Formats: sequence, C-alpha cells, structure tokens
Amino acid sequence: ASTTQPVAHLSTIANLQAKPRQHTSHKGSFGDVAVLGGEGLSQRGLSMTGAAWLAALAALHSGAGRVMLALLDEHAPQGIPPWPEIMLRRPSAQDWSQPTVVCGCGGGEAVQAWLPHILGQAPQLVLDADALNAIAASPALAQQLTARAARQQPTILTPHPLEAARLLQTSTTAIQAHRLQACLQLAQKFQCTALLKGSGTVIANAQRKIWVNSSGNARLASGGTGDVLAGLIGALWAQGSNADEAAIQGAFKHGHTADQWPADRPFSAGALAMHLAQ
Ligand code: APR
Ligand code: MG
Repeated sequence: ASTTQPVAHLSTIANLQAKPRQHTSHKGSFGDVAVLGGEGLSQRGLSMTGAAWLAALAALHSGAGRVMLALLDEHAPQGIPPWPEIMLRRPSAQDWSQPTVVCGCGGGEAVQAWLPHILGQAPQLVLDADALNAIAASPALAQQLTARAARQQPTILTPHPLEAARLLQTSTTAIQAHRLQACLQLAQKFQCTALLKGSGTVIANAQRKIWVNSSGNARLASGGTGDVLAGLIGALWAQGSNADEAAIQGAFKHGHTADQWPADRPFSAGALAMHLAQ
C-alpha cells in the first residue's frame, strides 16, 4: 500500500548547532535523562551493559543537564563509573516521574517487570529494543503504552525493522517493502512518534505526518549505533524540543555525524557518541 501523505525529506536542518547556553543557566535548565537498560540476561552469559552505557554516553555528549543510568543487573558495578558524570542508580532508587526516560537499550527480559511502572510514570519516554520486544509480547503493556497519549505523556518508539515487525505482528520483509506505511501504522497504533530505523530512517506521528531522513551511511551498520540514537533523542527531548523535533533532529544529527566522520578516525558506536557534540 502506498501512502498519500506528504513526506518531508530532511536534507538540511537549519538548527543543527547546539542552542547557545545562556550565561546564567544551570544544569537544571537542560533537563535530566534517565536510562534504564543494561544487562538482565547476565545469568545466561549475555551482557548488554554496553547498550545502556552507549545511550547514556550519547545523552551526556548531546547536552543533557544530568544523565542517570539504572542498570538492570544485580551485579552492576559499584564505585566510580568509567564516566563519572553519569550517575549510576539502582532502578528502585530512581524517580521515574521526573526525567526524560530512555528504556530498553539492553535489559533483556528484566525490562518487562519495570515497564508497567515506567509507562505509567515517565513524562517523556523513548522506547528502544528490549522495551519494544517486551511490548510486542504483551497486549497489556501495549495497551498501557497506547493510553499514555491521552494523559499527555508522549512516547517515541525507535524500532529497527525486526522490532517493528514484532510490534505490528508481521514480517521484516513486509516492513521493508512498505516502510512509510509501517511507520505510520506504528504511530497510529500506539499514539506516539515512531522512528523506523535503517537506510532512509522514517519518522511519523499519530497525526499522520511523515518525515524521511536523508543523512547517514553504512558506517552506522555497526553494533550499538542504535543505542546512541536513543540517548541522543532523549537528550534533545529533555532540552525542550517536542517529541517529533527530538526524533527528527536526532535522526538527522546521528546520520550527519557519521557523514562528516574523518576518514582517518576509527568508527565505533562509542566514538560516535563522544563526537555528537561537534
Ligand atoms: N545507512 C544509514 N543508516 C544506517 C545504516 C545504513 N546503511 N545501517 C544502519 N543504520 C543506522 C540505523 O538507521 C540506526 O540508527 O544505524 C542504527 C542501527 O540501529 P539498530 O538497528 O538498533 O542497531 P544496534 O542497536 O546498534 O545493534 C543491533 O539491536 O535488536 C538488537 O539484537 C540486536 O544486538 C542487536 C542490536
Ligand atoms: Mg538497536
């Protein structure tokens, strides 16, 4: 099915530069980002701690005032983290009703137990990877997600094609054959801003607006870049953009940073996170 909606192609974004920070501003002026993710399958030998760290690092380097990181791992490291600016929290010690929350970068099945609380509390919520998979597997969680919009608690979903296929109960092939339509369906089904990743990332909202991102390249086909995008979007949102702007500007900036990458600088998701501020 083709779409009849006008599609905005993001070839340039006027305001790519970070907004000037007022001389009298303080860290509270730039918003908090709290990341929930990380391990969760460590008992099976599958650690995803790096995913949550990458999201937190990206938020830190994208201008968020404060970044909190709650790792879903009983064995989460104690003491001074490798980036001391990032505040490690136990999930139960974090107030999820205050910050912009980024949930699902790693975390495995442990995310599921936290989702009812987070879907109910978080004023602005970015859902990625393991959070999306948990919602796809639970009609009750899906219902709770859809109900957020009516309470003025906006949500951004950032699926890659397989995660989108699970959410729409279809195949990756079907998603990729009709990317605009699939993204619109996600936005409408869950009453949120949906961002469908991949070459030519699509963004759609529940009012049926669609944007297609033009930045980015195959360098981004590298583990962890999706986590960086989630953290970046969270930070832009925390700094006062609305959900659509945060998704659009985040996708563009993410791709643009990869497009401008110096040929002699080794590329990795961690390096991408560190260079978002440039
Ligand atoms: N051109 C432009 N952008 C691209 C390209 C490309 N050829 N390839 C990838 N990207 C971008 C996507 O648009 C997205 O922003 O890179 C990012 C990749 O994000 P994900 O697909 O979420 O990948 P990531 O999270 O980094 O790693 C994959 O996700 O589902 C889990 O189990 C999976 O561990 C795996 C992880
Ligand atoms: Mg991912």
